[in-house]
Amino acid sequence: MQNHVGIAHTRWATHGAPSPLNSHPHASDSTAQFLVVHNGIVTNYKALKAMLTGKGYTFETETDTEVVARLLKYLYETVREGGEVLTFSRLVMHMMHALDGAYAILVRSTLFPNEVVACKRGSPLVLGLKGDVRELPSSGSVEVMRGSLSEQAGYNTTINGGGRRLSAGGSAPGASTSKRRKLATGEGLSPVSTAVAVAAAAAGSLSTALNGGGSRPNPTTPKAVTASPALHNEYFFSSDACALVEHTDKVVYMEDNDVVHVDAAGNLHLYCFGAESGAVVTNRVIQTLELELQQIMKGSYDTFMRKEIFEQPESLTQTLRGRLVKKSTGPATSDGTGSGFTSVFPLNDLDMDDVPFEVQLGGLNERMSDIRRSNRVIFVACGTSYNSCLAARQTMEELAELPVSVELASDFLDRRCPIYRSDVCVFVSQSGETAETLDALHYARSHHALTVGIVNCVGSSISRLTDCGVHLNAGGEIGVASTKVYTSQVVVIIMMALLLSSDSRSKDARRAEILRGLAQLPSRVEATLAAVDEMMKTTAHKLKDQQSILLFGRGYQYATCLEAALKIKEVSYVHTEGIHAGELKHGPLALVDDKMPVVLFASCDATATRVHNALSQVAARGGLGRMIIVGCDGDAEVMRYKDSATLVLVPQVVDCLQCVLNIVPMQLLSYHLAVARNLNVDQPRNLAKSVTVQ
Ligand code: G6P
Repeated sequence: MQNHVGIAHTRWATHGAPSPLNSHPHASDSTAQFLVVHNGIVTNYKALKAMLTGKGYTFETETDTEVVARLLKYLYETVREGGEVLTFSRLVMHMMHALDGAYAILVRSTLFPNEVVACKRGSPLVLGLKGDVRELPSSGSVEVMRGSLSEQAGYNTTINGGGRRLSAGGSAPGASTSKRRKLATGEGLSPVSTAVAVAAAAAGSLSTALNGGGSRPNPTTPKAVTASPALHNEYFFSSDACALVEHTDKVVYMEDNDVVHVDAAGNLHLYCFGAESGAVVTNRVIQTLELELQQIMKGSYDTFMRKEIFEQPESLTQTLRGRLVKKSTGPATSDGTGSGFTSVFPLNDLDMDDVPFEVQLGGLNERMSDIRRSNRVIFVACGTSYNSCLAARQTMEELAELPVSVELASDFLDRRCPIYRSDVCVFVSQSGETAETLDALHYARSHHALTVGIVNCVGSSISRLTDCGVHLNAGGEIGVASTKVYTSQVVVIIMMALLLSSDSRSKDARRAEILRGLAQLPSRVEATLAAVDEMMKTTAHKLKDQQSILLFGRGYQYATCLEAALKIKEVSYVHTEGIHAGELKHGPLALVDDKMPVVLFASCDATATRVHNALSQVAARGGLGRMIIVGCDGDAEVMRYKDSATLVLVPQVVDCLQCVLNIVPMQLLSYHLAVARNLNVDQPRNLAKSVTVQ
């Protein structure tokens, strides 16, 4: 290639059908004067489109991104006509001034060869660095866009049609985009790897760019933070650090309103776009990714989902590591476990019995007394993360003795749920970037609630914006269907509940029982995987042509029903419903006949008698022939059905952690169903791993 800068984007369509025409990059005109890739949604694109149409621009696609590309051309022509000398970054800031919504955008231009400008507001953007750039300057001045500048651009945010006329010499907008370049990304490591730009600068390009003369406007002196010139650096932009890890482990998480300009010489300029004067560029620190390349490779597995299901003994060990501690009599330790504590995990079960131990979550230490004093705890999440909150809610209520509610982030936002200063809002997310969860976090912050993050992706927006939090340490999760992160989320929320009750002596025995259960979990999960994999494969083959599967459970297993139903539907496209067994007679029983497959979770806990009642009711309507009972090894009640139903037996563990074992056969069932139905296990249709737009 002649070029050393490229932009590309793999994404699901938000506007218009997924088609070659609607895919990125989008161009400003037939010469591709400006090329844009964009992750997010421009909410005022219709108004912008109407304004641009009025100026003579035409559009070929249904996307909001094409509007951004055309807008750049319009702004360039208009501002230039107004006499302003434009740098590439300044032009992008004019564009930001015009856009509403959430976005991370990369722009290239034939006017600024070998350069790229990236900007972010609302959607995630990570900058990867490879080469000589070791640190970014710690602070700098701000590029402030005042009202007068947007007026010069002939534009204000309330589109009033008062913009300047396009210069006569401007090239015709809206012509065919067939010539625009589309850069292949190569084999995508992750379905969420979105915009990637690479600038590996060479000395030759510097003179080309600076001597280019005519077409390029004189740059103004950039009021920017500029990294040292480096001729052999490479820069990468992505919405997700997973996409960068094969290239570099040095990253900078961009903040909202950041503008990054990589010039033709390979210099990096950082700006902060602000609508008000007086804002300052906060420090941007280069961080080292802990993600290993092997974590995002399939290794010997056929799919990421299967790999991640089988990684659970290890991911749970990592989630627990250093967090189960015993009080030591020695001096304060500086290993992050806090003063006077020594880690006791992993140890064997016998040792755990002998040692009185506690939970330590370093990220919550400073705010623990505030959390204990709060009036209620509200968990907010989406998808699988929501189900993990439901799975651990009862334990949180029992141990913390606080009202606990669990909210779908989207519903929480729709209702504008009343939030007070005395509330604790816990945001649970694998990616830490889910749009609704992030918006709910902004909402809770604006109401001055204490915010806690439980997040897998270190450096993600939710982990940066919450007051305190816990990382799941489950390792990279690539399969769209979340598996290992679910079990780690349940474990972390239960650890948080243990911590909240640690000064309640009346709960010592219960806490010890749960702590022992936590320490046993990785080995119990390992045993479960070995015991049920083949059986789930056989079961999947029997079920593969079914239209529908119902899943019943109650108590701790209600969340297991929901999560199992979600897993099956998202990867196998079989319709499933997770139903509270207590609701059976209030409607769902009408669906039960001798053809309907039913999964019933019958664990040894306080709800066992009621679950067995439900089992009898289902059996009476359709026989046991099509019933799959997930129960505990050695449970005599369940064993009664060994000749009439399919029994899936897992090891028994303390009641509140049984859900972690019960979900494992269901994860395998959904995987085997998808394989049996010849579907793409890791990238189910219409779904994305990280949903960064609402
Ligand atoms: C998407 C994914 C789910 C995930 C949900 C929430 O729908 O496909 O697997 O549970 O987003 O994502 P988060 O990253 O916030 O946990």
